[in-house]
Amino acid sequence: MADVLTLDGLDDPRLGEAVGALEHDGLVMFPHLPFALEPGEEAFLSTEVFSGESKNVSYDPASGKVGGTKLEGDPLERMRAMIARYSDFAQTVLARVAPTYGPHLQLRRTSFRPGPVDTRVMSKRKDDRRLHIDAFPSNPNQGRRILRVFTNVHPTGLERVWAVGNDDFEAYAKRWVGQVTPRPGGAWREAVGLTKGRRTAYDSVMLQLHDKGKLDDAWQAGEPKSRLAFPPGATWMVYTDSVLHAALSGQHAFEQTFYLPPDAMTEPARAPVRVLERLMGQPLL
Ligand SMILES: [Fe+2]
Repeated sequence: MADVLTLDGLDDPRLGEAVGALEHDGLVMFPHLPFALEPGEEAFLSTEVFSGESKNVSYDPASGKVGGTKLEGDPLERMRAMIARYSDFAQTVLARVAPTYGPHLQLRRTSFRPGPVDTRVMSKRKDDRRLHIDAFPSNPNQGRRILRVFTNVHPTGLERVWAVGNDDFEAYAKRWVGQVTPRPGGAWREAVGLTKGRRTAYDSVMLQLHDKGKLDDAWQAGEPKSRLAFPPGATWMVYTDSVLHAALSGQHAFEQTFYLPPDAMTEPARAPVRVLERLMGQPLL
């Protein structure tokens, strides 16, 4: 299975192993690194904050914009401050875990997830209870890594439960790479707002790899996987573009996404774009 480096805190003597663990398709997990809510913020731990069909509340640290909620006025401002504080928390943690990434990390969306892991009937492609690597149709990342920090803030003890796959990215990619075709998107996708930025050949391959595994019932059933339980107060991080993962259950969590250019990694050759270029024998960017 994906190795899990479990650390006591930010002063753990093994902290220096964290970057290697992440880059080798493992998880770094702090069972006791809580994000503290301030008095009154527990009121936001409710699906009542959602607007319409939203499954989580999103926050853009660059603009301060909050989406996915029906809150307005003072409650909205207090929730915005809470999520912004989590974004700061995740940045502080990651700066300690991966100091060499510092200036190269690109801060992306923060999400607040007061709803239960989605159990509604949905398409296999959208069902994140099935093992997958992250790749998003509307958000091409153009070869950059997707590194995410999560914290369980459940107030009464519910664990957040994942499954992680046995295969590392290269093993997973090898399984499907003969069945995918690089299909970079035309500029029109960006022009009409379908994608935020150009869909590169790499992005198209990653989307196909995401779908190949998600849609294949036999592979889902046969891939060896391990159950991981993250208790309230736990903070964990993982490259979700290379680690096979599935969110099975849980409620009340925060997540902060970062992008990282492969060249800022300690081992750039382990970036999915480099692995795929080697396996496919062609440039993908
Ligand atoms: Fe995911």
